[in-house]
Amino acid sequence: MRKIPPVDLARQYAKIESEANQAVLEVLSSGRYINGPVVTQFEQEFSDYLNVLYTVSCGSGTAALYLALRALKIGPGDEVITSPFTFIATAEVITLTGATPVFIDIQAETFNLNPELLEAAITPRTRAIIPVHLYGQAVDMGRVMEIAERYKLYVIEDCAQATGAKWQGRKVGSFGDIGCFSFFPTKNLGGCGDGGAITTNNVSLAQTVKMLKEHGSNKRYSHEETGVNSRLDAVQAAILRIKLKYLDSYNQERYNIAQLYENLLSHLPGVILPKDHSSSGHVWNQYTVRVKDGLREELKTQLDLKGITSMVYYPIPLHLQPVYKKLGYLKDQLPIVEGVASEVLSLPMFPGLLPEEQKQIAYAVQESLDYSEILLS
Ligand SMILES: Cc1ncc(COP(=O)(O)O)c(C=O)c1O
Repeated sequence: MRKIPPVDLARQYAKIESEANQAVLEVLSSGRYINGPVVTQFEQEFSDYLNVLYTVSCGSGTAALYLALRALKIGPGDEVITSPFTFIATAEVITLTGATPVFIDIQAETFNLNPELLEAAITPRTRAIIPVHLYGQAVDMGRVMEIAERYKLYVIEDCAQATGAKWQGRKVGSFGDIGCFSFFPTKNLGGCGDGGAITTNNVSLAQTVKMLKEHGSNKRYSHEETGVNSRLDAVQAAILRIKLKYLDSYNQERYNIAQLYENLLSHLPGVILPKDHSSSGHVWNQYTVRVKDGLREELKTQLDLKGITSMVYYPIPLHLQPVYKKLGYLKDQLPIVEGVASEVLSLPMFPGLLPEEQKQIAYAVQESLDYSEILLS
């Protein structure tokens, strides 16, 4: 029986090996490792891909979110509304600026924050909303932008898991004041190390992020603000330039994999399959099912025993994390996300996953659920 990992990056690399090696070698022999032409070219190509005016690259998706908040001058006394169902980075950076994250409940069907709950969470201190396009599916950006405009709030899109995703035909990262991207290797557009970028149509925000990421400096050894050191290195930019050319085909492959999962698993009563609610804009960074009747852990264990590694993103919603105990959220306060967090299971999903492997996974899921049900009865 073949082992199946949640992600296999080596398969993707194998297909672009000679192109990627050559691009990396060119950077190595150029002697320009930080900033320089390759980074600038990547930024321009990324802007063109998303149809935005400016991309400013940086060291990670976390840094992109932090720089975005800093550029919008969000800090102590401010509140930022976001989803409790995301990677810690989304909220961590709010706290790092001195502002307070405010979590609202999600929609079980999309896993994204429920825009209908935004208005009730807005206070005189609210400055911004961070919608997170989780698992590759866009938040309802029509609704988010309408509310943000009405209340004069900034919107920072967390696009870390959704490069290339669309809301009604328009790419995420082009709706809000700033879009934030991660190029962590497992993302839809992933490098061979850490990397990130912000996107915007506002020249002054682009300039401010550029200044902040270079130690708060526009001019060498003159520092206007307390900044950070956060740069995309030229080797990563060279690899990302190549992968960007293939991003739409990678996302198409992810879509095909999701379709096959749907065909293979839709007859199983014990699992709820993910659906695309964004008018065909889902880019399937994850294929995440919901396992009913408290059987998630049992299913995961059974799959492990069969050599199939599935993942739980995320077992504890952020409002219940120890680090946010101080915010005073109570158990059951955000009931949808708390239920969903106990049900989600992400099955292997990556370009290069083979149909026969998906059949092996589907068979194992069915067998494991049958077994669990026998145990329960
Ligand atoms: C939703 C979300 N936001 C932000 C990040 C942070 O990105 P990075 O790991 O590049 O710092 C991630 C990465 O996993 C993420 O999934």
